[in-house]
Amino acid sequence: MNRVDLKTFFFPGQKATGAFNKEFKVDPRVNTEELVSLEFVIKTVDLTKKYGDLVAVDRLNLEVEADTVHGFLGPNGAGKTTTLKMLVGLLRPDGGSISVLGQELGWDKPDVRSRIGYMPELPKLPKHLKGRELLDIYGRMYGMSKDAREKQVPRLLDMVGLKKRENDLIGEYSKGMQQRLGIAQALLNEPRLVILDEPSLGLDPVGMVEIREIMKEIAKEGVTVFLSSHLLHEVEQVCTHVTIINKGVAVASDTLEQVSTKVRGPSILEVEVDKLTETVIKKVKELPFVADVSKDGKKLLVEVKTRDDVRSSVSQVIAAGGGVVMSMNLKGESLEDVFMDLLGKNKKKVEAAK
Ligand SMILES: Nc1ncnc2c1ncn2[C@@H]1O[C@H](COP(=O)(O)OP(=O)(O)OP(=O)(O)O)[C@@H](O)[C@H]1O
Ligand SMILES: [Mg+2]
Repeated sequence: MNRVDLKTFFFPGQKATGAFNKEFKVDPRVNTEELVSLEFVIKTVDLTKKYGDLVAVDRLNLEVEADTVHGFLGPNGAGKTTTLKMLVGLLRPDGGSISVLGQELGWDKPDVRSRIGYMPELPKLPKHLKGRELLDIYGRMYGMSKDAREKQVPRLLDMVGLKKRENDLIGEYSKGMQQRLGIAQALLNEPRLVILDEPSLGLDPVGMVEIREIMKEIAKEGVTVFLSSHLLHEVEQVCTHVTIINKGVAVASDTLEQVSTKVRGPSILEVEVDKLTETVIKKVKELPFVADVSKDGKKLLVEVKTRDDVRSSVSQVIAAGGGVVMSMNLKGESLEDVFMDLLGKNKKKVEAAK
């Protein structure tokens, strides 16, 4: 593999030492053909990490299916970064096991790390390097040939929208641009799995949308994306699957749809009806998707079992019963409420277990 004087690149003015280079030397990538039929690209069993008395990650059983965009959602301090660092081998677990890309992760087996892309939380990139230069250096660290780097680096710069700024210093990049360069760096070695720690942290709404578009782009290329976030709407917009973590404990894990429908309460359709009679109420109650109906003055509160839009069916039966619909308002629990519910429920569960 190519040798790079990394210390000179990252700490200019200081002499490079062999030890520094050795520490950062990455094993050449291995053939990923054998991974084609892999079901779970990440699987942890009872993964645990303690900081003194604090259990930051508590017997976590995580399963990330191949070819999904899996969100790891949780509030500040939930244990997301700690988990991600264990997955990429930067932190040693106190208990449990981790399998990444079908291989048990151990301190004696570092090669799997070279097959994962990883962007740390708020990546600190050397400000005195140019964007393109940084990617080239990382490419050399991954043992990529000059030809491979010359193909891959411009492609990634283009993908993350930094082609025009590739020769500017990173110190002159905005936060969003630095995050995007961080993502490009994570994709350099053509990983099958990319792990991103809060990729849109600290960005304005435009920057967030840009990052989301990039994540969708990555997924289209057949890379499994595992990203942490404390933003529910971000997870809703880009993820197919979600694991919700709170205080180190996973409180839900499934497809985004399943998590939403399983834990969401019923939707309530609030209908203001003129000429509201018992016949109208009876007709609404008879609808197959209606769980319950109650009357609140001129309003009918219809508890709906489905997530489908049923407003026109409800309207029709009310009209058939002689009523006149004045207004209709669907009051479903948002995923935001679900998220808060889960965190609340979990709090009780944790306290009950004490
Ligand atoms: N090096 C450390 N030493 C002691 N405690 C730590 C350390 N790193 C994290 N913690 C604690 O572990 C818990 C989990 O922290 P972690 O950084 O994994 O959470 P997070 O979900 O990534 O939060 P955030 O959304 O704020 O990034 C927190 O209570 C945190 O204070
Ligand atoms: Mg974090």
